Amino acid sequence: MTRIHIRRGQSAGTISRYIYGSFSEHLGHCIYGGIFVGKDSSIPNVNGIRTDVVEAMKAIRMPVLRWPGGCFADEYHWRDGIGPQEKRRNMVNTNWGGVTEDNSFGTHEFMELCRQVGCEPYITGNVGSGTMQEMSEWVEYLNSDGDSTVVRERRANGRQDSWGVRFWGVGNESWGCGGIMRPEYYADVYRRYQNFCRQYGDHKLYKIACGSNGGDANWTDVVMKNAAFCMDGLSLHYYTIPGGWNNKNKAIVFTKEDYFETLAGAADIDRLVTMHSEIMDKYDPDKRVGMIVDEWGTWFEVEPGTNPGFLYQQNTMRDAMVAAVSLDIFNRHCDRVFMANIAQTVNVLQAIILTKDEQMVLTPTYYVFDLYKEHMDAKELGCEIEAGKLGTEKFSVPGVTASASEKDGFITVTLSNLDPDKADDVVISLPGAGGVTGRILQGKMDEFNDFGNAPLKTEAFSDFEIRGDEILVRMPACSVAELRVKI
Ligand code: AHR
Repeated sequence: MTRIHIRRGQSAGTISRYIYGSFSEHLGHCIYGGIFVGKDSSIPNVNGIRTDVVEAMKAIRMPVLRWPGGCFADEYHWRDGIGPQEKRRNMVNTNWGGVTEDNSFGTHEFMELCRQVGCEPYITGNVGSGTMQEMSEWVEYLNSDGDSTVVRERRANGRQDSWGVRFWGVGNESWGCGGIMRPEYYADVYRRYQNFCRQYGDHKLYKIACGSNGGDANWTDVVMKNAAFCMDGLSLHYYTIPGGWNNKNKAIVFTKEDYFETLAGAADIDRLVTMHSEIMDKYDPDKRVGMIVDEWGTWFEVEPGTNPGFLYQQNTMRDAMVAAVSLDIFNRHCDRVFMANIAQTVNVLQAIILTKDEQMVLTPTYYVFDLYKEHMDAKELGCEIEAGKLGTEKFSVPGVTASASEKDGFITVTLSNLDPDKADDVVISLPGAGGVTGRILQGKMDEFNDFGNAPLKTEAFSDFEIRGDEILVRMPACSVAELRVKI
Protein backbone atom coordinates (compact mmCIF):
# COMPACT_ATOMS: atom_id res chain seq x y z
CA MET A 1 0.00 0.00 0.00
CA THR A 2 1.12 3.54 -0.73
CA ARG A 3 0.09 6.79 0.96
CA ILE A 4 0.07 10.17 -0.73
CA HIS A 5 -0.52 13.33 1.30
CA ILE A 6 -1.55 16.32 -0.75
CA ARG A 7 -0.84 19.62 1.01
CA ARG A 8 -2.97 22.42 -0.34
CA GLY A 9 -1.15 24.94 1.85
CA GLN A 10 2.23 24.03 0.36
CA SER A 11 3.32 24.96 -3.15
CA ALA A 12 6.53 25.44 -5.15
CA GLY A 13 4.61 27.87 -7.40
CA THR A 14 2.86 27.73 -10.74
CA ILE A 15 3.68 24.86 -13.06
CA SER A 16 4.84 26.52 -16.25
CA ARG A 17 2.95 25.24 -19.27
CA TYR A 18 6.26 25.13 -21.12
CA ILE A 19 7.31 22.06 -19.09
CA TYR A 20 5.08 20.19 -21.53
CA GLY A 21 7.08 21.29 -24.55
CA SER A 22 8.61 19.24 -27.32
CA PHE A 23 11.66 19.22 -29.56
CA SER A 24 11.84 18.63 -33.32
CA GLU A 25 15.20 18.42 -35.02
CA HIS A 26 16.27 17.88 -38.60
CA LEU A 27 17.15 14.31 -37.73
CA GLY A 28 15.98 11.14 -39.43
CA HIS A 29 12.27 11.34 -40.11
CA CYS A 30 11.33 13.87 -37.49
CA ILE A 31 10.88 16.83 -39.83
CA TYR A 32 10.96 15.29 -43.30
CA GLY A 33 8.31 12.58 -43.55
CA GLY A 34 7.23 12.86 -39.91
CA ILE A 35 5.99 16.44 -39.90
CA PHE A 36 6.61 17.84 -43.36
CA VAL A 37 5.62 15.99 -46.50
CA GLY A 38 5.28 18.87 -48.96
CA LYS A 39 2.17 20.27 -50.58
CA ASP A 40 2.09 17.70 -53.36
CA SER A 41 2.07 14.70 -51.06
CA SER A 42 -0.85 12.25 -51.10
CA ILE A 43 -0.66 12.32 -47.29
CA PRO A 44 -3.29 14.82 -46.08
CA ASN A 45 -1.51 18.08 -45.32
CA VAL A 46 -1.96 21.81 -45.00
CA ASN A 47 0.82 23.77 -46.64
CA GLY A 48 2.94 20.63 -46.66
CA ILE A 49 2.49 19.86 -42.96
CA ARG A 50 0.83 16.56 -42.01
CA THR A 51 -2.68 17.07 -40.70
CA ASP A 52 -2.72 13.91 -38.54
CA VAL A 53 0.45 14.92 -36.72
CA VAL A 54 -0.74 18.48 -36.20
CA GLU A 55 -4.06 17.25 -34.80
CA ALA A 56 -2.21 14.97 -32.37
CA MET A 57 0.01 17.82 -31.21
CA LYS A 58 -3.01 20.06 -30.74
CA ALA A 59 -4.86 17.45 -28.70
CA ILE A 60 -2.21 17.49 -25.97
CA ARG A 61 -2.11 21.31 -26.13
CA MET A 62 1.59 21.33 -26.95
CA PRO A 63 2.73 24.72 -25.67
CA VAL A 64 6.15 25.16 -27.27
CA LEU A 65 8.26 23.49 -29.93
CA ARG A 66 12.05 23.69 -30.15
CA TRP A 67 13.72 23.70 -33.60
CA PRO A 68 15.92 23.20 -35.73
CA GLY A 69 18.26 21.27 -33.37
CA GLY A 70 20.05 19.86 -31.50
CA CYS A 71 23.44 19.39 -33.05
CA PHE A 72 21.87 20.34 -36.37
CA ALA A 73 21.30 23.91 -35.14
CA ASP A 74 25.01 24.72 -35.06
CA GLU A 75 25.42 23.80 -38.70
CA TYR A 76 22.18 25.32 -39.91
CA HIS A 77 22.31 28.52 -41.90
CA TRP A 78 18.83 29.96 -41.89
CA ARG A 79 19.18 31.76 -45.21
CA ASP A 80 19.39 28.36 -46.91
CA GLY A 81 15.81 27.73 -45.79
CA ILE A 82 13.96 30.79 -47.13
CA GLY A 83 12.72 31.82 -50.55
CA PRO A 84 11.25 29.57 -53.26
CA GLN A 85 11.57 25.99 -52.07
CA GLU A 86 12.88 24.68 -55.39
CA LYS A 87 15.73 27.17 -55.36
CA ARG A 88 16.99 26.50 -51.86
CA ARG A 89 20.51 25.26 -51.31
CA ASN A 90 20.90 21.58 -50.58
CA MET A 91 22.98 20.49 -47.65
CA VAL A 92 24.33 17.29 -46.19
CA ASN A 93 23.19 16.64 -42.65
CA THR A 94 26.61 15.71 -41.30
CA ASN A 95 25.36 15.04 -37.78
CA TRP A 96 22.55 12.71 -38.67
CA GLY A 97 23.04 10.05 -41.30
CA GLY A 98 24.85 12.14 -43.91
CA VAL A 99 21.65 12.55 -45.90
CA THR A 100 21.02 15.40 -48.29
CA GLU A 101 18.35 17.86 -47.23
CA ASP A 102 16.77 20.22 -49.71
CA ASN A 103 15.90 22.82 -47.07
CA SER A 104 12.26 22.81 -48.16
CA PHE A 105 11.39 23.05 -44.47
CA GLY A 106 12.79 26.35 -43.21
CA THR A 107 11.81 29.38 -41.18
CA HIS A 108 8.43 30.06 -42.84
CA GLU A 109 7.45 26.38 -42.72
CA PHE A 110 8.40 26.10 -39.03
CA MET A 111 6.40 29.19 -38.15
CA GLU A 112 3.48 27.77 -40.15
CA LEU A 113 3.76 24.53 -38.17
CA CYS A 114 3.60 26.47 -34.90
CA ARG A 115 0.59 28.41 -36.19
CA GLN A 116 -1.25 25.22 -37.07
CA VAL A 117 -0.45 23.59 -33.73
CA GLY A 118 -1.11 26.76 -31.74
CA CYS A 119 2.21 26.49 -29.92
CA GLU A 120 5.03 28.96 -29.37
CA PRO A 121 8.26 28.60 -31.34
CA TYR A 122 11.59 28.14 -29.62
CA ILE A 123 14.43 28.64 -32.09
CA THR A 124 18.04 27.70 -31.45
CA GLY A 125 20.49 29.93 -33.29
CA ASN A 126 23.82 28.83 -34.73
CA VAL A 127 26.80 29.77 -32.56
CA GLY A 128 29.07 26.88 -33.51
CA SER A 129 29.55 27.68 -37.20
CA GLY A 130 27.45 30.79 -37.76
CA THR A 131 28.33 34.44 -37.42
CA MET A 132 26.91 37.03 -35.08
CA GLN A 133 25.54 38.91 -38.06
CA GLU A 134 23.74 35.78 -39.24
CA MET A 135 22.08 35.26 -35.88
CA SER A 136 21.30 38.92 -35.46
CA GLU A 137 19.63 39.07 -38.88
CA TRP A 138 17.59 35.94 -38.22
CA VAL A 139 16.07 37.66 -35.19
CA GLU A 140 15.48 40.75 -37.32
CA TYR A 141 13.85 38.65 -40.07
CA LEU A 142 11.53 37.06 -37.52
CA ASN A 143 10.71 39.96 -35.26
CA SER A 144 11.21 43.33 -36.93
CA ASP A 145 8.60 45.50 -38.62
CA GLY A 146 11.11 48.21 -39.48
CA ASP A 147 12.08 49.17 -42.99
CA SER A 148 15.26 47.27 -43.76
CA THR A 149 16.57 45.01 -46.50
CA VAL A 150 16.12 42.00 -44.24
CA VAL A 151 12.49 42.83 -43.49
CA ARG A 152 11.79 43.58 -47.14
CA GLU A 153 13.21 40.17 -47.97
CA ARG A 154 10.78 38.52 -45.53
CA ARG A 155 7.91 40.43 -47.10
CA ALA A 156 9.02 39.38 -50.56
CA ASN A 157 8.93 35.80 -49.27
CA GLY A 158 5.28 36.20 -48.38
CA ARG A 159 5.21 37.29 -44.75
CA GLN A 160 4.18 40.87 -44.14
CA ASP A 161 4.19 41.12 -40.34
CA SER A 162 6.82 40.02 -37.91
CA TRP A 163 6.11 36.78 -36.09
CA GLY A 164 7.36 37.85 -32.68
CA VAL A 165 9.39 34.82 -31.67
CA ARG A 166 10.10 34.87 -27.94
CA PHE A 167 12.23 31.87 -27.01
CA TRP A 168 15.74 32.13 -28.40
CA GLY A 169 18.55 29.64 -27.80
CA VAL A 170 22.12 30.87 -28.24
CA GLY A 171 23.78 27.66 -29.43
CA ASN A 172 23.20 24.03 -28.56
CA GLU A 173 25.51 21.77 -26.57
CA SER A 174 28.34 24.24 -27.06
CA TRP A 175 30.46 21.96 -24.86
CA GLY A 176 30.07 19.21 -27.50
CA CYS A 177 28.65 19.11 -31.03
CA GLY A 178 28.04 22.87 -30.85
CA GLY A 179 31.73 23.77 -30.81
CA ILE A 180 33.55 21.84 -28.03
CA MET A 181 33.94 25.06 -26.06
CA ARG A 182 35.15 25.55 -22.53
CA PRO A 183 32.57 27.20 -20.25
CA GLU A 184 34.78 30.29 -19.84
CA TYR A 185 34.95 30.73 -23.61
CA TYR A 186 31.25 29.97 -24.17
CA ALA A 187 30.20 32.47 -21.50
CA ASP A 188 32.02 35.21 -23.43
CA VAL A 189 30.69 34.03 -26.79
CA TYR A 190 27.19 33.94 -25.32
CA ARG A 191 27.55 37.49 -24.05
CA ARG A 192 28.54 38.77 -27.49
CA TYR A 193 25.98 36.84 -29.55
CA GLN A 194 23.03 37.60 -27.30
CA ASN A 195 23.96 41.26 -27.34
CA PHE A 196 23.14 41.50 -31.05
CA CYS A 197 19.87 39.61 -30.74
CA ARG A 198 17.81 42.76 -30.51
CA GLN A 199 14.40 43.57 -29.18
CA TYR A 200 12.14 44.80 -31.98
CA GLY A 201 9.06 46.70 -30.84
CA ASP A 202 7.37 44.72 -28.10
CA HIS A 203 9.06 41.48 -29.12
CA LYS A 204 11.31 40.93 -26.15
CA LEU A 205 13.39 37.80 -26.43
CA TYR A 206 13.65 35.21 -23.70
CA LYS A 207 17.33 34.34 -24.17
CA ILE A 208 18.48 30.84 -23.34
CA ALA A 209 22.15 30.05 -22.78
CA CYS A 210 23.59 26.61 -23.32
CA GLY A 211 23.73 24.73 -20.03
CA SER A 212 25.28 21.59 -18.74
CA ASN A 213 25.54 18.09 -20.05
CA GLY A 214 23.94 16.06 -17.27
CA GLY A 215 25.97 16.53 -14.11
CA ASP A 216 28.60 19.07 -15.24
CA ALA A 217 28.45 21.40 -12.24
CA ASN A 218 31.45 23.44 -13.35
CA TRP A 219 29.75 24.42 -16.63
CA THR A 220 26.72 25.73 -14.76
CA ASP A 221 28.87 27.56 -12.26
CA VAL A 222 31.11 29.30 -14.80
CA VAL A 223 28.33 30.23 -17.23
CA MET A 224 26.09 31.53 -14.44
CA LYS A 225 28.93 33.48 -12.82
CA ASN A 226 29.86 35.22 -16.06
CA ALA A 227 26.63 35.55 -17.98
CA ALA A 228 23.58 35.16 -15.71
CA PHE A 229 22.97 38.91 -15.91
CA CYS A 230 22.19 38.70 -19.63
CA MET A 231 20.23 35.44 -19.84
CA ASP A 232 16.66 34.48 -19.07
CA GLY A 233 17.13 30.74 -19.16
CA LEU A 234 19.89 28.16 -18.90
CA SER A 235 19.43 24.79 -20.55
CA LEU A 236 20.07 21.30 -19.20
CA HIS A 237 20.29 18.15 -21.30
CA TYR A 238 19.73 14.79 -19.74
CA TYR A 239 19.15 11.45 -21.47
CA THR A 240 18.26 8.14 -19.82
CA ILE A 241 20.58 5.59 -21.42
CA PRO A 242 20.33 2.21 -19.68
CA GLY A 243 23.38 0.08 -20.39
CA GLY A 244 25.42 3.21 -21.22
CA TRP A 245 26.54 4.66 -24.57
CA ASN A 246 28.38 1.56 -25.73
CA ASN A 247 25.86 -1.04 -24.68
CA LYS A 248 22.51 0.64 -25.01
CA ASN A 249 19.28 -1.21 -24.24
CA LYS A 250 16.95 -2.21 -27.00
CA ALA A 251 13.69 -0.29 -26.97
CA ILE A 252 11.24 -3.20 -26.90
CA VAL A 253 13.27 -6.24 -25.83
CA PHE A 254 14.51 -5.79 -22.28
CA THR A 255 14.58 -7.42 -18.87
CA LYS A 256 13.07 -6.34 -15.57
CA GLU A 257 16.55 -5.32 -14.45
CA ASP A 258 16.77 -3.07 -17.54
CA TYR A 259 13.34 -1.66 -16.67
CA PHE A 260 14.45 -0.70 -13.17
CA GLU A 261 17.77 0.64 -14.41
CA THR A 262 15.84 2.85 -16.84
CA LEU A 263 13.46 4.19 -14.22
CA ALA A 264 16.26 4.75 -11.71
CA GLY A 265 18.16 6.62 -14.42
CA ALA A 266 15.16 8.79 -15.23
CA ALA A 267 14.55 9.52 -11.54
CA ASP A 268 18.15 10.70 -11.21
CA ILE A 269 17.22 13.94 -12.94
CA ASP A 270 15.75 14.99 -9.59
CA ARG A 271 19.27 15.03 -8.14
CA LEU A 272 20.63 16.92 -11.16
CA VAL A 273 17.90 19.55 -11.19
CA THR A 274 18.44 20.09 -7.45
CA MET A 275 22.22 20.30 -7.86
CA HIS A 276 22.17 22.73 -10.81
CA SER A 277 19.45 24.78 -9.19
CA GLU A 278 21.55 25.18 -6.06
CA ILE A 279 24.45 26.44 -8.17
CA MET A 280 22.11 28.82 -9.98
CA ASP A 281 20.88 30.04 -6.57
CA LYS A 282 24.40 31.32 -5.82
CA TYR A 283 24.14 33.84 -8.66
CA ASP A 284 20.38 34.10 -8.96
CA PRO A 285 18.78 33.64 -5.53
CA ASP A 286 15.45 35.03 -6.74
CA LYS A 287 15.25 32.33 -9.41
CA ARG A 288 14.81 34.82 -12.24
CA VAL A 289 16.75 32.57 -14.64
CA GLY A 290 14.66 29.58 -15.66
CA MET A 291 16.03 26.09 -15.99
CA ILE A 292 15.23 24.91 -19.51
CA VAL A 293 15.47 21.12 -19.79
CA ASP A 294 15.31 21.36 -23.55
CA GLU A 295 16.35 17.76 -24.24
CA TRP A 296 15.27 14.83 -22.09
CA GLY A 297 14.09 11.27 -22.60
CA THR A 298 15.25 7.74 -23.29
CA TRP A 299 17.98 6.84 -25.72
CA PHE A 300 18.02 3.21 -26.85
CA GLU A 301 19.60 1.22 -29.67
CA VAL A 302 17.98 2.07 -33.02
CA GLU A 303 15.42 -0.42 -34.34
CA PRO A 304 17.05 -3.19 -36.39
CA GLY A 305 17.30 -2.36 -40.07
CA THR A 306 16.97 1.40 -39.60
CA ASN A 307 19.65 4.00 -40.31
CA PRO A 308 21.80 4.29 -37.15
CA GLY A 309 22.02 8.04 -37.75
CA PHE A 310 18.25 8.44 -37.60
CA LEU A 311 17.80 7.44 -33.94
CA TYR A 312 14.49 5.71 -34.57
CA GLN A 313 13.28 3.69 -31.58
CA GLN A 314 9.96 2.14 -30.56
CA ASN A 315 8.28 3.29 -27.38
CA THR A 316 6.81 1.04 -24.68
CA MET A 317 5.10 1.40 -21.33
CA ARG A 318 8.64 1.67 -19.93
CA ASP A 319 8.95 4.98 -21.80
CA ALA A 320 5.57 6.06 -20.46
CA MET A 321 6.87 5.47 -16.94
CA VAL A 322 10.00 7.50 -17.70
CA ALA A 323 7.78 10.34 -18.89
CA ALA A 324 5.64 10.16 -15.74
CA VAL A 325 8.65 10.08 -13.43
CA SER A 326 10.30 13.00 -15.27
CA LEU A 327 7.22 15.21 -15.53
CA ASP A 328 6.44 14.69 -11.84
CA ILE A 329 9.98 15.84 -11.02
CA PHE A 330 9.68 18.91 -13.27
CA ASN A 331 6.31 19.76 -11.72
CA ARG A 332 7.77 19.58 -8.22
CA HIS A 333 10.70 21.81 -9.26
CA CYS A 334 8.50 24.39 -10.94
CA ASP A 335 10.11 27.14 -8.88
CA ARG A 336 13.16 26.74 -11.15
CA VAL A 337 12.19 24.56 -14.12
CA PHE A 338 10.46 26.86 -16.59
CA MET A 339 10.56 24.73 -19.71
CA ALA A 340 11.24 21.14 -20.75
CA ASN A 341 11.22 19.66 -24.25
CA ILE A 342 11.01 15.94 -24.73
CA ALA A 343 13.40 14.55 -27.33
CA GLN A 344 11.79 14.28 -29.75
CA THR A 345 8.35 14.86 -31.26
CA VAL A 346 8.19 12.40 -34.19
CA ASN A 347 10.21 9.28 -35.09
CA VAL A 348 13.31 10.17 -33.05
CA LEU A 349 14.37 8.88 -29.60
CA GLN A 350 11.50 8.97 -27.06
CA ALA A 351 9.02 10.08 -29.67
CA ILE A 352 5.46 10.95 -28.78
CA ILE A 353 4.40 10.17 -32.37
CA LEU A 354 5.62 7.59 -34.90
CA THR A 355 4.84 7.63 -38.59
CA LYS A 356 5.31 5.21 -41.47
CA ASP A 357 4.37 6.73 -44.80
CA GLU A 358 0.71 7.72 -44.40
CA GLN A 359 0.25 5.86 -41.11
CA MET A 360 0.65 7.39 -37.66
CA VAL A 361 0.67 5.90 -34.17
CA LEU A 362 0.60 7.67 -30.84
CA THR A 363 3.07 6.21 -28.37
CA PRO A 364 2.49 5.44 -24.68
CA THR A 365 4.60 8.54 -23.96
CA TYR A 366 2.10 10.62 -25.94
CA TYR A 367 -0.69 9.44 -23.66
CA VAL A 368 1.25 10.50 -20.56
CA PHE A 369 1.34 14.03 -21.96
CA ASP A 370 -2.39 13.72 -22.53
CA LEU A 371 -2.96 12.64 -18.91
CA TYR A 372 -0.79 15.46 -17.53
CA LYS A 373 -2.06 18.39 -19.58
CA GLU A 374 -4.22 19.87 -16.79
CA HIS A 375 -1.05 20.60 -14.79
CA MET A 376 -0.18 23.35 -17.25
CA ASP A 377 -0.41 26.78 -15.59
CA ALA A 378 -1.82 25.23 -12.40
CA LYS A 379 -0.61 25.85 -8.86
CA GLU A 380 1.65 23.02 -7.79
CA LEU A 381 0.63 21.35 -4.53
CA GLY A 382 2.91 19.64 -2.04
CA CYS A 383 2.71 15.90 -2.59
CA GLU A 384 4.35 13.66 -0.02
CA ILE A 385 4.59 10.01 -0.99
CA GLU A 386 5.12 7.08 1.38
CA ALA A 387 5.81 4.18 -0.94
CA GLY A 388 7.78 0.96 -0.78
CA LYS A 389 10.91 0.46 -2.86
CA LEU A 390 11.01 -1.54 -6.08
CA GLY A 391 13.83 -2.96 -8.15
CA THR A 392 17.23 -4.32 -7.31
CA GLU A 393 19.94 -3.29 -4.87
CA LYS A 394 21.68 -1.43 -7.68
CA PHE A 395 18.63 0.10 -9.35
CA SER A 396 15.87 0.96 -6.96
CA VAL A 397 12.90 3.27 -7.36
CA PRO A 398 9.88 4.15 -5.23
CA GLY A 399 6.84 2.07 -6.14
CA VAL A 400 4.71 5.12 -6.92
CA THR A 401 5.40 8.53 -8.41
CA ALA A 402 2.89 11.38 -8.34
CA SER A 403 2.33 15.12 -8.53
CA ALA A 404 -0.62 17.39 -7.85
CA SER A 405 -1.82 20.82 -8.85
CA GLU A 406 -4.85 23.08 -8.47
CA LYS A 407 -6.63 25.17 -11.08
CA ASP A 408 -10.17 26.37 -11.78
CA GLY A 409 -11.84 24.54 -8.90
CA PHE A 410 -10.14 21.21 -9.55
CA ILE A 411 -7.16 19.39 -8.13
CA THR A 412 -5.35 17.24 -10.68
CA VAL A 413 -3.42 14.29 -9.29
CA THR A 414 -1.26 12.24 -11.61
CA LEU A 415 0.02 8.99 -10.14
CA SER A 416 1.85 6.00 -11.52
CA ASN A 417 2.35 2.51 -10.23
CA LEU A 418 5.86 1.64 -11.40
CA ASP A 419 5.54 -2.00 -10.37
CA PRO A 420 5.56 -4.03 -13.59
CA ASP A 421 3.74 -6.96 -11.97
CA LYS A 422 1.61 -5.97 -9.01
CA ALA A 423 -1.36 -3.70 -8.47
CA ASP A 424 -1.16 -1.28 -5.55
CA ASP A 425 -3.73 0.32 -3.28
CA VAL A 426 -2.93 4.01 -3.08
CA VAL A 427 -4.54 6.10 -0.34
CA ILE A 428 -4.56 9.80 -1.15
CA SER A 429 -5.31 12.08 1.77
CA LEU A 430 -7.11 15.10 0.38
CA PRO A 431 -9.76 16.72 2.57
CA GLY A 432 -12.70 18.35 0.83
CA ALA A 433 -12.86 16.22 -2.30
CA GLY A 434 -16.16 16.58 -4.15
CA GLY A 435 -16.56 14.43 -7.24
CA VAL A 436 -13.64 12.57 -8.80
CA THR A 437 -13.18 11.46 -12.39
CA GLY A 438 -10.27 9.45 -13.69
CA ARG A 439 -8.39 8.34 -16.78
CA ILE A 440 -5.70 5.70 -17.04
CA LEU A 441 -3.02 4.25 -19.31
CA GLN A 442 -1.98 0.71 -18.48
CA GLY A 443 -0.15 -2.17 -20.09
CA LYS A 444 2.72 -4.58 -19.77
CA MET A 445 6.11 -2.96 -19.30
CA ASP A 446 7.24 -3.89 -22.82
CA GLU A 447 3.93 -3.36 -24.60
CA PHE A 448 3.89 -0.80 -27.40
CA ASN A 449 1.72 0.64 -30.14
CA ASP A 450 2.62 -0.54 -33.60
CA PHE A 451 1.29 0.36 -37.02
CA GLY A 452 -1.99 -1.49 -37.43
CA ASN A 453 -1.95 -2.70 -33.82
CA ALA A 454 -2.11 0.04 -31.22
CA PRO A 455 -3.80 -1.28 -28.07
CA LEU A 456 -2.44 1.31 -25.63
CA LYS A 457 -4.40 4.47 -25.01
CA THR A 458 -5.97 6.47 -22.20
CA GLU A 459 -9.26 5.11 -20.96
CA ALA A 460 -11.86 6.13 -18.41
CA PHE A 461 -10.89 4.95 -14.93
CA SER A 462 -13.17 4.53 -11.93
CA ASP A 463 -11.48 2.02 -9.66
CA PHE A 464 -11.38 4.40 -6.71
CA GLU A 465 -13.64 5.55 -3.90
CA ILE A 466 -13.84 8.57 -1.63
CA ARG A 467 -13.70 7.61 2.05
CA GLY A 468 -14.03 10.73 4.16
CA ASP A 469 -10.88 12.78 3.67
CA GLU A 470 -9.23 10.08 1.62
CA ILE A 471 -9.44 8.65 -1.87
CA LEU A 472 -8.56 4.98 -2.19
CA VAL A 473 -7.25 4.19 -5.67
CA ARG A 474 -6.59 0.69 -6.94
CA MET A 475 -3.73 1.20 -9.35
CA PRO A 476 -3.12 -1.69 -11.75
CA ALA A 477 0.46 -2.80 -12.37
CA CYS A 478 2.43 -0.57 -14.74
CA SER A 479 -0.12 2.21 -14.99
CA VAL A 480 -0.35 6.00 -15.12
CA ALA A 481 -3.56 7.69 -13.98
CA GLU A 482 -5.02 11.14 -13.82
CA LEU A 483 -7.61 12.01 -11.18
CA ARG A 484 -9.59 15.22 -11.46
CA VAL A 485 -10.92 16.13 -8.05
CA LYS A 486 -13.64 18.76 -7.69
CA ILE A 487 -13.02 21.00 -4.71
O1 AHR B 1 18.42 14.68 -29.64
C1 AHR B 1 19.52 14.16 -30.33
C2 AHR B 1 20.80 14.91 -30.03
O2 AHR B 1 21.13 14.75 -28.69
C3 AHR B 1 20.75 16.39 -30.22
O3 AHR B 1 20.97 16.78 -31.52
C4 AHR B 1 21.88 16.87 -29.35
O4 AHR B 1 21.67 18.16 -28.86
C5 AHR B 1 21.94 15.82 -28.27
O5 AHR B 1 23.22 15.36 -28.05
